[in-house]
Amino acid sequence: MPSSLRSSTTITSKRGYTDAVSDRSTVSMLWTSLRAGTITETRGAPRSPNNARARSSDGSGRGGRARSARKSASKSQGRAGTSPFTPRRTPFPTDGAAARAHEGAGATRLRGVAANPRRTGVLPTEQAVARGPPRAPSCARSAPGGRSPHRVRQGPPLACPPSPRSPDVFDLEALRDEFPILSRTTYLNSCSLGALSKRGEARLRAFLDEWHTRGASAWYDCWLARLDDLRGRVARFLGAPTHTLALSPSTSVALATIAESLPVQGSRNRVVCSELDFPTLVYQWRVRPDVELVVLPSEDGVHVPLERYAEAVDERTLVLAASHVNFATGHVNDVASLASIAHAVGAFCLIDGYQAPGQIPVDLPATGVDAYTAGPLKWLCGGPGLAYLYVRAERIEALRPRITSWFASADPFAFDPATFRYRDDARRFEMGTPALATVHTALGGQELIDELGIEAIHARNRRLTDRLVEGLTDAGFTLTLPGPANRSAIVMVRHPAPAEAVRRLVERHIVVDHRPGHVRVSPHVYNTEDEIDRFVRALVEVGPTG
Ligand SMILES: Cc1ncc(COP(=O)(O)O)c(C=O)c1O
Repeated sequence: MPSSLRSSTTITSKRGYTDAVSDRSTVSMLWTSLRAGTITETRGAPRSPNNARARSSDGSGRGGRARSARKSASKSQGRAGTSPFTPRRTPFPTDGAAARAHEGAGATRLRGVAANPRRTGVLPTEQAVARGPPRAPSCARSAPGGRSPHRVRQGPPLACPPSPRSPDVFDLEALRDEFPILSRTTYLNSCSLGALSKRGEARLRAFLDEWHTRGASAWYDCWLARLDDLRGRVARFLGAPTHTLALSPSTSVALATIAESLPVQGSRNRVVCSELDFPTLVYQWRVRPDVELVVLPSEDGVHVPLERYAEAVDERTLVLAASHVNFATGHVNDVASLASIAHAVGAFCLIDGYQAPGQIPVDLPATGVDAYTAGPLKWLCGGPGLAYLYVRAERIEALRPRITSWFASADPFAFDPATFRYRDDARRFEMGTPALATVHTALGGQELIDELGIEAIHARNRRLTDRLVEGLTDAGFTLTLPGPANRSAIVMVRHPAPAEAVRRLVERHIVVDHRPGHVRVSPHVYNTEDEIDRFVRALVEVGPTG
């Protein structure tokens, strides 16, 4: 964790990203090597000492900058054709519409969840299953109230339907009843850990019941299909085809898996990130001696403008790595423009999206990003121990992670160490047995999020955030705040003793968080206006000196 929001050492290389690609042969060699899997490591060039500080910015994000970056990017599109990351023909659909068709009818059902695991092909082959233990009677499927003796508790009938006229009006009482912590606590820390729902808890109990009664046979009868349910559900939520989604043990592992799929080749050895990214994103490259790391500074401590990325990214850039929502400022970055900036010079665009899905709408194929990490822990209310990794369909085939597992193998049930072939789909990035308990709590949380609908959640969170910002400002607090167009439900309140303030708020049954110099507050859809007001009053009482 950086000691302050602006403390990172920064090395910025200023080069116009519209420069012509100088070394096409290097690019095509990398592409050939990636396809053939014959890449060897090369030692990186020394770091650029250029220390170009970011120019001043208005903090409002998007708008003109996004447009100009896209324009510049599209001017340079021709060069992207020579890139190792140039879209390739794929056996799978590649855009959002095709993705939805691929998922089949009913992909957006609010209830009755389960994608057919045979149809989506995520279960082991029939032969592989046949090698396993004999089948027991069917178990609980993703839909609550399924056929199983291990029935998952039936949720209330669409507990919290958004009104058709006003998308941010919920049956708040029913929604809050789903989250026991809310009856005891003013819980305003969803960007750290989303609240556990009764739905998630019921799924967890059903899982434990299966474990008690079936033991390992539950793998074949229930749990492999449950993994498929989760991949399918999350992929649909992100607008992506199921075959582009992998389960990972954590965001750090998911990011490392991509980093280990992108070896340096020739002069394309540079990775560009920012000092506002979660450190784990930067660490992936800091430990790689073959990579030249560029960490962009933030002038305002809130965001890094698109122009700074555009200046730093050039034909030497292997990866542009960025956050969708900055964890310590709440700034929503324009990931579609970041992808355009990367692709204009043939670079890979990797996004850490942990703080976005579940609080803002996300349609991954539409953004064009190459890889994106997310997880159930925070806004998706699904708990710790699992992460999601999306890899754009066209990119999957060329990426061969140098860390791997039997889950990544095309025939995991062959148990043959003599041969290894990557799976054709994103499961080639998986790292072994996922945390099954979390798979179940994640399914419960995701179900609720799906039932509410992300547009409605986003609208409600916006209203709560506006009230929070207004209340804090009126009470005299100073906020580290993005402009309205780039604001999320993460609000940073400057405070001289944030840890002490958070501790004293806990004594009042109010749970928020602290980061250097700030109290961090993150309301979610289940919070009330009264809770927002209670927090503001309590922070005043706690006092600016903690
Ligand atoms: C944006 C972001 N990325 C990554 C992480 C770390 O994720 P993990 O612990 O799953 O590696 C966090 C944790 O809070 C985060 O907020």
